[in-house]
Amino acid sequence: MVHEWEFSPEKRIPLARNPDSQKPTITLDGKALPCRPDTSVAVALWDHGVRHLSHSHKYGRPRGVTCARGHCTNCLMRVDGVPNVRTCETPVRDGMLVATQDTGAFYGAPMQKLLSLGSAWMPVGFYYKWFTRPASLSRFFLDRIRPMTGVGRLPDATQAMRALPAAPADAPASASTDLGRFTTVIIGAGPTGLQAARHQTGATLLVDDCATPGGQRLLALRELATDRNGTLARFPSLTTALDRLESAVNGLPTEADLRFMGGAKVVAGYYPDGILVRQGTELMTARFDKLIWAAGALDTIGLFPGNDTPGLFGPRALYRLLTRDGLQVSGRHALLVGGGLDFWLCAALLASRGATLNLVVTETGCQSEVAAAVDLKWSLNTGVVLKEVKGLGGHKVQATFEPHGTTPGPTGSHMHLEADLAVICNAGKPAYDIPYQLGADLALVPERGGFVPRDCDQATGQEFQQTLPGGAPITFAGEALGLSPADQVNS
Ligand code: FES
Repeated sequence: MVHEWEFSPEKRIPLARNPDSQKPTITLDGKALPCRPDTSVAVALWDHGVRHLSHSHKYGRPRGVTCARGHCTNCLMRVDGVPNVRTCETPVRDGMLVATQDTGAFYGAPMQKLLSLGSAWMPVGFYYKWFTRPASLSRFFLDRIRPMTGVGRLPDATQAMRALPAAPADAPASASTDLGRFTTVIIGAGPTGLQAARHQTGATLLVDDCATPGGQRLLALRELATDRNGTLARFPSLTTALDRLESAVNGLPTEADLRFMGGAKVVAGYYPDGILVRQGTELMTARFDKLIWAAGALDTIGLFPGNDTPGLFGPRALYRLLTRDGLQVSGRHALLVGGGLDFWLCAALLASRGATLNLVVTETGCQSEVAAAVDLKWSLNTGVVLKEVKGLGGHKVQATFEPHGTTPGPTGSHMHLEADLAVICNAGKPAYDIPYQLGADLALVPERGGFVPRDCDQATGQEFQQTLPGGAPITFAGEALGLSPADQVNS
């Protein structure tokens, strides 16, 4: 089913609802867990205090929901016998059987110590670079090293395969539906994607993983606008962002040549001018004369010990968990670290949902927002940098900060803050995977946060154009070009 969005602000397509999901109960490793309808498996488990969903392949470190958008492997579990299901994107269904794939028990603390003793001889990626020749040596090592990693063996793999239903006799010859050729395909319906859509002529396809145009921030801002305490009005940058985003949505052309696909994700790009789109369980292909890449950025947590601790998120993940899956945060303690638009939006949203805040502001600026936070009596800290995060008992995180400066202070000068969850608001990492698959010429530009089109740092403005090897033009825009979200919503 393709979600077609009708171009009226009053008519927004809701997420697909399961009519049988009024009071779903799922089973985790044999234990029945009642859940809220219309949430994801990962968030349902979080509501029941289950944060450790899987373990890292190499060292067995605990993993929990992280990106909340199907972009990592941290939430993989077995669902109804199917292994490696991304539970952050799997809606709960009554009677669903969820199972952990691995317990991480093999690794335990002694094994981790043993492995770390040998880590000097086994740097990251060593098994991809060494033992590749001759083939017999490579096979010997792969046969012995690979089984030591991964997520273990399925106890009932053969049985599960036998239980799979046979393909129906009238199954379509192709696994995907062809949407045809478009003059322009725009990936991302955030502020830059919307801006681009306004100026297109000819058949245009606008794709976004949000159900409605405007992106996750708009959903968060809209929710905040309904907060009875009037929190939004206290934060000028958030009010401006909401106004700009709403006017971008309302400025979309209404003619039939613009087609919006919500709740859809581009999962591959193929030569010379094709994309593969997934919407729910459906796959679709589309071709383009011109591609506009406005897919935004990915969360970056930063480099520090414990940056993989379950309970740590970036702002984009938090928006999804709150507005899409209804993560329960009332009465919880939330730690926020960072600065900028996302930091204040996350803080205001969490506060409006009843969370108790502890803010650590690491960026200068936003004086009005700081003043509003003080006025609201939110706990506020400055002048420190995040040093380490640890998990406490599987339900809390503890963050350690040290004074900002070149010389670390004595241990006693460190500050420890505990919380139920922590949100790290850093500059995002530009999304680049689909342009890369289509052959775009990319370069690592650390000042822009990651891989962006080569030479774009010498250009100014919100867009940068290249020609793909297949001959079609591609335009990079907004956060996908390394620009900050504030630049996007306030431009
Ligand atoms: S894929 Fe589910 S948390 Fe990243």
